[in-house]
Amino acid sequence: MTVASPPAMQCSWKAVLLLVAASLAVQYTAIRTLIAKPFAICRMTKQRGCEPRPGAPCQSRPPASHILVLATTRSGSSFVGQLLNQHSDIFYLFEPLYHVQTSLINTSLRLRQPADGRRLLLGAYRDLLRSLFGCRLHDLETYIKPAPQHHRTQRLFRRGASTALCSPPLCADWPAPERWEEGECVRRCGALNLSLASGVCRRLHHVAIKTVRIPEVGDLRPLLEDPRLNLKVIQLVRDPRGILASRIDTFPDSFRAWKMWRNSGRKPYNLDASHLSATCGDFLRSASTGLARPGWLKGRYMLVRYEDLAREPERKTREIYRFLGVPLDGNVKRWILNNTRGAGASGNHKYATVRDSAATAEGWRLKLTMDMVELVQSICNLTLAQLGYRTVSSVEELRNVSVSLAEDRTFLPFL
Ligand SMILES: *[C@@H]1O[C@H](CO)[C@@H](O)[C@H](O)[C@H]1NC(C)=O
Ligand SMILES: *[C@@H]1O[C@H](CO)[C@@H](O)[C@H](O)[C@H]1NC(C)=O
Ligand SMILES: *[C@@H]1O[C@H](CO)[C@@H](O)[C@H](O)[C@H]1NC(C)=O
Ligand SMILES: *[C@@H]1O[C@H](CO)[C@@H](O)[C@H](O)[C@H]1NC(C)=O
Ligand SMILES: *[C@@H]1O[C@H](CO)[C@@H](O)[C@H](O)[C@H]1NC(C)=O
Repeated sequence: MTVASPPAMQCSWKAVLLLVAASLAVQYTAIRTLIAKPFAICRMTKQRGCEPRPGAPCQSRPPASHILVLATTRSGSSFVGQLLNQHSDIFYLFEPLYHVQTSLINTSLRLRQPADGRRLLLGAYRDLLRSLFGCRLHDLETYIKPAPQHHRTQRLFRRGASTALCSPPLCADWPAPERWEEGECVRRCGALNLSLASGVCRRLHHVAIKTVRIPEVGDLRPLLEDPRLNLKVIQLVRDPRGILASRIDTFPDSFRAWKMWRNSGRKPYNLDASHLSATCGDFLRSASTGLARPGWLKGRYMLVRYEDLAREPERKTREIYRFLGVPLDGNVKRWILNNTRGAGASGNHKYATVRDSAATAEGWRLKLTMDMVELVQSICNLTLAQLGYRTVSSVEELRNVSVSLAEDRTFLPFL
C-alpha cells in the first residue's frame, strides 16, 4: 500500500505528522488483519498445509464456507444436494441428523411437554451440525446403531449419496462414476472408517450438509451468529401441491388414504393432512424470517424455489455458487448437463435426481384431483401467496400446463 503525497505538498512538520499518523493507521489495520486472518481463514479452513506457522501469514483462499441445505421431504433436496456433492472441493453429507432423530425420538416423546422434546432434538441437531462442520465425524458415533467398533461403521445413513465417502481413500474398490449407484457404494466399499473420513473432510475446503429435519431457519440462529462457522443456508422450497403428489408416489404406505382419494375420487374420512400444515407452516415462518432480512442472516440466507431450479438449472446453480462464494467447477457443470436434459433419464429410484427438467416440477398438475388441490390451497393459502405460487379455481386451469403456476419472482440472496 502506498501513500502518495500530492505534488504541491511541502514537507512541513504537519505533513510529516500526517504521514506518520497515516502509516500508523495502515500498520494498525495490517496487524489487525494478520491477527484476525489466521483465525478466520486458516483455522476454519480445512485445506491441508494452511495451518499458519508462527509469524508466517498463510496463503489465503476464500474462507471456507459451511453450507446447510434446509429442505423438506420431496422438495427436490436430493437434486440440490447433488449440485454440491459433485463439487471436487466440497465434503457432502446427506442427512446425518437422521441418526440423532432415531436415537433420541423416544426420549423426546417421553418428555411431558412436546415443546421440551422439540428443544431437546433441535439442541442435539445443532451440536452435531457444529461438530460435522468442524469435520469431527466421531461425534456421530453416539447416535449410530449398532455403535461403531474402532471408529468403523457399516451403518452410516445414505453413505452412498456422498461422493467423498465412496471414493479413495475411503473406498478402495470404487465403481466407475458412470455406473454409479448408491447401493453399489455400500456393497463395495466395506465399513466406513470415521477417523479417515474426518481426515478427508479436513482436506476439502468446504462442508455441505443436507437436512429435512430442521423446521425453519430461525432454529439455526445460534449457528448463524457464530462468525467462525461462516454458515450459509440454502432454503429450498417447492409448491406444496407438488410436494403432496410426490409424497403420495414415494411413500405409498403412509399415504394410502391419499392414494385412495386420488384413485377413487372420494375423500376418505380418516385423512391426515397434518404433514401439509406442518410443511406449509415451516415454509411460511422460515421465508418470513428470511425475507425480513434480520442482521444475523446478512450474507447467509438464500431462498431457492425448486421450480426455478428446474426451469433454469444452470443459471440458478451459478446464482447459488455466487451466493456461497465458491467457484463453480467443471464436475458440477457436467453433472447438470447430464442430469437435466433427459440424457440418462431412466430408472425410477425413489431418490433419483435425474430430472426431465421443468416438466416434472409441475407434473403434479396431471396427478392430483381438483378436490385435493383445493384442500392444499386452503391449508397453505398464505404460503402459496408468499412464495409466488398461483392458485387455480378450475380443472381447466389446473391441467393447462402450458401456463406455469410458479409466478416469475426473484428471490435475491440477502447479501
Ligand atoms: C423406540 O420405541 C419403539 C417402540 O416402543 C421401539 O420399537 C424402538 O426400538 C425404540 N427406539 C430406540 C432407539 O430406542
Ligand atoms: C482408520 O483410519 C485411521 C486414520 O487413517 C487409522 O489410523 C486406523 O488404523 C484406521 N482404523 C481401522 C480399524 O482400519
Ligand atoms: C456424464 O455422462 C457421460 C456420458 O454418459 C459420462 O462419461 C460422464 O462421466 C458423466 N459425467 C458426470 C459428471 O456425471
Ligand atoms: C387464507 O385463508 C384465511 C382463512 O382461511 C383468510 O383469512 C385469508 O384471507 C386467506 N389469505 C389469502 C392470501 O388467500
Ligand atoms: C391454456 O392457456 C392458454 C393461455 O391462457 C390458452 O391460450 C390456451 O388455449 C389454454 N389451453 C387449453 C388446452 O385450454
